[in-house]
Amino acid sequence: MVGHRIAWGWVAALMLLGCRASPESVRRPPEQSLRRDLALTDEQAAYLARLAAAADAAPDDAAARKASGLAHMRFTLSGVVSLRERAELDLEAALQLDREDRELARALGRFYNMRAVERDGSKAAAQIDAYRAYLGDVAVDDMRSEQFVAYAFSQLGHILELRDRGRVLAAYGAARELEQQLRARTTADPDDIELWAVAGNFSFFFAGNIPSGKRDRVRDAVGYFTHLRARWGQLRAGARDPEQCPNTYENFMFELAEGHGTLGQLAEARPIYQELVVVREPITRPKQQIAYVAAERLRNLERYSGKLELMPPWPSDVGNCVVCHAYTSDVPLNTLYTLEPVTLDDMLGPTVVKPTPRVQTVPPPVRAVIERHCEPCHARGGEAEPFASFASDAALLLHSDAIVRRVTAGEMPPDQPLPAEAARILLDWLSSR
Ligand code: HEC
Ligand code: HEC
Repeated sequence: MVGHRIAWGWVAALMLLGCRASPESVRRPPEQSLRRDLALTDEQAAYLARLAAAADAAPDDAAARKASGLAHMRFTLSGVVSLRERAELDLEAALQLDREDRELARALGRFYNMRAVERDGSKAAAQIDAYRAYLGDVAVDDMRSEQFVAYAFSQLGHILELRDRGRVLAAYGAARELEQQLRARTTADPDDIELWAVAGNFSFFFAGNIPSGKRDRVRDAVGYFTHLRARWGQLRAGARDPEQCPNTYENFMFELAEGHGTLGQLAEARPIYQELVVVREPITRPKQQIAYVAAERLRNLERYSGKLELMPPWPSDVGNCVVCHAYTSDVPLNTLYTLEPVTLDDMLGPTVVKPTPRVQTVPPPVRAVIERHCEPCHARGGEAEPFASFASDAALLLHSDAIVRRVTAGEMPPDQPLPAEAARILLDWLSSR
């Protein structure tokens, strides 16, 4: 049987090497079955249009540009990829207007990686600049963990820029240096779980994009992610936020299983695929897709043993970002290597749904306050859903710090302040937990 992503690994490798490879060498199913962008609801579209109009009316107002840029960015990440240019335009303008806004600089720097994963180096210089605004002049050895994470992402831009200037060996050298830094830092701090996650991510990315040393990199990645799997509960809450990035665990564990498969470690791969076949709450489209692919892997497990074609890990295009950040949109299947043909149309659903037990329930009086005063905007489909959804108890609880902050500051709800009694019910309960 033939692989459906036969040459993709080599195409990626050749492109990294700066050669031209004809896209015809990759066999692809018809476009329709590859990708369905998330459609905006009327309310969401109106919300974005309002922010865009405000930014257009005041092009020199950093706050207006930032608000529009961040909103467009979040929808882009969750699968409306057509909004990317508008997001970049506003975020770039906002950063030019206010170079001191580090949070903005970091977000924009990271956002550019959506191009990097498609091997689009056109924003590489801008990415380096955004990260310079975030990091300043701090030396690598002096960076705190979160600065180093940002630095690692910025190096990706740097590596792509080197490659685009034809300096392929320098690009490999920079990749190797970054790997060594990640190795040293993770070894020094086994408790910095997020850094282990980043290290594993980079090892997988480089395994898929640098033609030599593939197996070693996969082995490294598997080591990092095995550590991450064992200590998942210790990962910073924001990095597990089911509202912003509901599929992070599934995406990482799928990569881990694929890594084991690549190394011929089927006994390790099998239980991970088996776990992924059962979709956990909150149920999302990418999780269903991962479950569907995991089932295909299990059916053919023996035949995947030792297959280097599993690298680069799926997805290795814009879907690489959407896969963790999306709720309802599909992840493109273009770059998925499979032995059986798979298409979105075959994927109508019946995956097993296993609800996770609720850790803590929100008492009815608190729920009533949320429903009355917050849900109009923060419920699923509401204009503020991309920022914070209170649709489930778990989601609400994740935002508890931000809720206390925004309600105490009188910023939420935005138009009229929360009645004193309602604010008391909400804040008393949140602070008593
Ligand atoms: C493995 C899951 C995963 C993948 C893949 C992923 N993200 Fe994220 N993303 C996260 C998590 C987790 C956060 C962190 C939320 C936090 O720290 O509070 C995040 C945060 C972000 C942020 C906000 C960062 C900030 O500093 O404010 C941006 C922007 C972003 N991701 C863009 C991307 C882009 C672009 C891609 C594709 C190259 C991508 N993400 C791929 C999980 C993922
Ligand atoms: C009229 C619509 C509306 C209502 C009602 C509303 N919000 Fe918001 N909320 C927004 C918008 C828009 C944003 C994003 C922009 C911002 O952060 O200011 C937001 C953002 C937030 C955030 C920030 C999330 C983050 O990432 O920091 C929190 C927390 C929040 N709202 C809490 C609440 C609470 C609690 C209530 C009810 C007591 C509420 N909101 C009612 C529109 C609303």
